[in-house]
Amino acid sequence: MNILHVCANPKPTEESISKQIASAFFGKLIELKPEVELVNVDLYDEKPPFYSYDLYKRAWYPVFNEGYEPSKVEEMSLNYATGQIEKFNAADVLVLTMPMWNYSVPAIMKAWIDQILLPGHTFSISKEDGVQGLHNIKRIVMLVSSGGIYKEDDDRDALTRQIRHGFEFIGINEIDVVWAEGQNPLFFDNSEENKAVAMEAATEVAEEIAEIEL
Ligand SMILES: Cc1cc2nc3c(=O)[nH]c(=O)nc-3n(C[C@H](O)[C@H](O)[C@H](O)COP(=O)(O)O)c2cc1C
Repeated sequence: MNILHVCANPKPTEESISKQIASAFFGKLIELKPEVELVNVDLYDEKPPFYSYDLYKRAWYPVFNEGYEPSKVEEMSLNYATGQIEKFNAADVLVLTMPMWNYSVPAIMKAWIDQILLPGHTFSISKEDGVQGLHNIKRIVMLVSSGGIYKEDDDRDALTRQIRHGFEFIGINEIDVVWAEGQNPLFFDNSEENKAVAMEAATEVAEEIAEIEL
């Protein structure tokens, strides 16, 4: 089983709740299935560029114009994406670790997603066949921490919606969320308890992932 772990958090693990949840998740998974192939991408070490006009042309012009020939600069605009897409397309399971920032994913995670979701690379798109995934990812696990608490369907939560809709678009529908909510101790007396519940949930999801036959 190949797992790609993408982490968008600049803090060291001892200060980061989402990274501690990731440690609990991978600790359990590796205990149960030591043979997993794990590739780690720390986005603060492998910073994605913002989506550019050159990348837009290189990715989308071929969809609408068969005769399009990319310029050298347009070809080079794919450099970051190509490296990450290779890891993405080799993975069976994608794990995303991040805090909630301003109700959404950290901008560095959004920039990575913009680099990954490219036609002709991670999905195909046509009038006849619609959108078809070109990857092997069967499941996504989100490991998230937030200061506040957001009930299901709370429309302030743009984080899980962003990930769900973005990846459902390319055919990944099985998405687990482990979420340490209410982590601001100024507003929630039970922040430690909420964290412990999330750590436990992370090990339970790891047990489920370990059972996937691949
Ligand atoms: C820049 C910034 C923006 C934040 N925005 C939100 C927010 O919109 N909603 C929320 O509930 N918490 C917000 N928080 C709080 C974090 O989500 C919370 O502290 C979380 O536990 C951080 O996870 P970490 O310890 O893994 O970094 C924000 C924190 C920072 C630093």
